[in-house]
Amino acid sequence: MAPSTIKLNTGHAMPQVGFGLWKVDNATCADTVYNAIKVGYRLFDGACVADYGNEKEAGEGVARAIKDGLVKREDLFLVSKLWNSFHDGDQVEPICRKQLADWGIDYFDLFIVHFPVALKYVDPSVRYPPGWAVDGKDDVQLSNASIQETWTAMEDIHKKGLAKSIGISNFQGSLILDLLRYAKIRPATLQIEHHPYLVQPTLLKLAESEGIAVTAYSSFGPQSFIELEWQKAKDTPVLFEHPVVTKIADRTKKTPAQVLLRWATQRGLAVVPKSNNPERLQQNLKVTDFDLEQADLDAISGLDRHLRFNNPTDVSPPFAHF
Ligand SMILES: NC(=O)c1ccc[n+]([C@@H]2O[C@H](COP(=O)([O-])OP(=O)(O)OC[C@H]3O[C@@H](n4cnc5c(N)ncnc54)[C@H](OP(=O)(O)O)[C@@H]3O)[C@@H](O)[C@H]2O)c1
Repeated sequence: MAPSTIKLNTGHAMPQVGFGLWKVDNATCADTVYNAIKVGYRLFDGACVADYGNEKEAGEGVARAIKDGLVKREDLFLVSKLWNSFHDGDQVEPICRKQLADWGIDYFDLFIVHFPVALKYVDPSVRYPPGWAVDGKDDVQLSNASIQETWTAMEDIHKKGLAKSIGISNFQGSLILDLLRYAKIRPATLQIEHHPYLVQPTLLKLAESEGIAVTAYSSFGPQSFIELEWQKAKDTPVLFEHPVVTKIADRTKKTPAQVLLRWATQRGLAVVPKSNNPERLQQNLKVTDFDLEQADLDAISGLDRHLRFNNPTDVSPPFAHF
């Protein structure tokens, strides 16, 4: 069966199911990417930020898969993100070029602004990739770059062919409306935290009405953050064991993870689940070839608690004073 795709407003087709690279260990990343390509993944979602830090290794996996004839570059859809430390207009192209060099490719299929938060520039020769704090510890400092300055530089890298499509992540509705006032190139995608505990229906509706495709991240809700030992996640009922989810999984003979991913894909969203386990990785890809009933979709959406895990003030406690 041909993999399901979403047509972007740039005309390019984006695979609806991809593989997320956050928390994929450097030591296993190249093999994980290679094996993911072998079982059928075509989209990889990376980023330049300290807690991913695996763009080189992901690129090695891609290069090996191309060398072994598993795929051609044009069969893949490689995504990366502009980290907050590189929002200044004159830093966007240099860092995009460095990230491309790390991946060993000459264009990204999609390059997205990771957060609408501009941080003080960190020279890659000092620390790379940087995180939230300018000193690598606890000193979070802002840059003066506006989103307009950053977006104009993103448009330039698109025009130069470094990114076939450009997009945004972690933007809320009002900021999107503002960006659309000055954008000469509209964002092709919006990547957001989206799971049954954080549904954000009005944001989804806005994106749809503006022709912006939505990619859901952290589709399993607290699961990803339990991995980080976050108390807020540990205190939240695990979605895989939620009776609403397990009942649907039992009836459809799918796993709870597949039900959660299908809830998103059936409603037109793209997903980028991450798994360091070969069986789960394979299972997560098979989430577009069965249908849930409308009542199932509604019941899962009904679990909404407006509960966000990936909150900058939680991610980086020193950020809390802003
Ligand atoms: N734009 C942003 O700000 C942003 C933020 C967060 C994430 N993302 C992107 O979204 C991707 C996915 O989000 P995420 O990494 O937060 O989390 P996720 O994919 O929702 O969840 C990953 C967690 O679920 C487990 N898991 C995966 N498949 C499973 C299955 N079939 N059954 C049971 N457990 C399963 C994983 O463990 P195992 O590895 O052991 O299987 C891991 O603990 C990221 O990798 C990243 O590319 C973007």
